[in-house]
Amino acid sequence: MLLFVNACLRENSRTERLARMWLERRAYEGELCTVTLSELDIDPLEATGPNTIDAYLAAVASGAYDHPMFEHAKAFAQADEIMIAAPFWNYGLPALLNCYLELVCTQGLTFDVDETGAYMSLCKARRLTFVSTAGGAAPDPSDDHAFGKVRTLATRFWHIPRIEYVAAWGLDGPGADVEALLANAL
Ligand SMILES: Cc1cc2nc3c(=O)[nH]c(=O)nc-3n(C[C@H](O)[C@H](O)[C@H](O)COP(=O)(O)O)c2cc1C
Repeated sequence: MLLFVNACLRENSRTERLARMWLERRAYEGELCTVTLSELDIDPLEATGPNTIDAYLAAVASGAYDHPMFEHAKAFAQADEIMIAAPFWNYGLPALLNCYLELVCTQGLTFDVDETGAYMSLCKARRLTFVSTAGGAAPDPSDDHAFGKVRTLATRFWHIPRIEYVAAWGLDGPGADVEALLANAL
């Protein structure tokens, strides 16, 4: 199963278009499962509210992950391949995607810690692709907190060996040829 995490939030999103172009080229033969974050009610971990940090920590301590907030992590762990698409916002990820990733990063569901303190992956995925578009020019990699975060999680927690970045830059520049920039990104 290829899990497509769609964190595109605008109508006619160029990032979503690039993601769908990538999917077409990928020609994945298995099942495609799409999670459209704008259609879900994803709450962050908070002191109060639907997803409390107390309930989260109690589940991690007991191993009883029956709260609905853990559905995203369970599905993520089962995916054979993952594609995440999100626009580049303020040198990072849209908050909604951060909320989703916060829940996906549940110890005991997508990763665990062994007796030496090292992270062990509980994810099946061997390949993760991050698709993005940005209005401006590509920043210095140390300022790219969008792919930077995704790459760190995919490497450190989930041990995904093949991590790819498909990004189109400069889409909001004067006279930008958006179609050509998207095609070049592929
Ligand atoms: C809230 C917000 C923050 C943005 N931050 C950046 C930024 O830090 N750097 C940049 O190059 N473009 C930035 N942009 C421009 C978007 O990255 C660009 O328009 C992108 O192509 C939007 O993708 P979409 O068409 O899929 O919505 C920002 C746009 C918005 C709405």
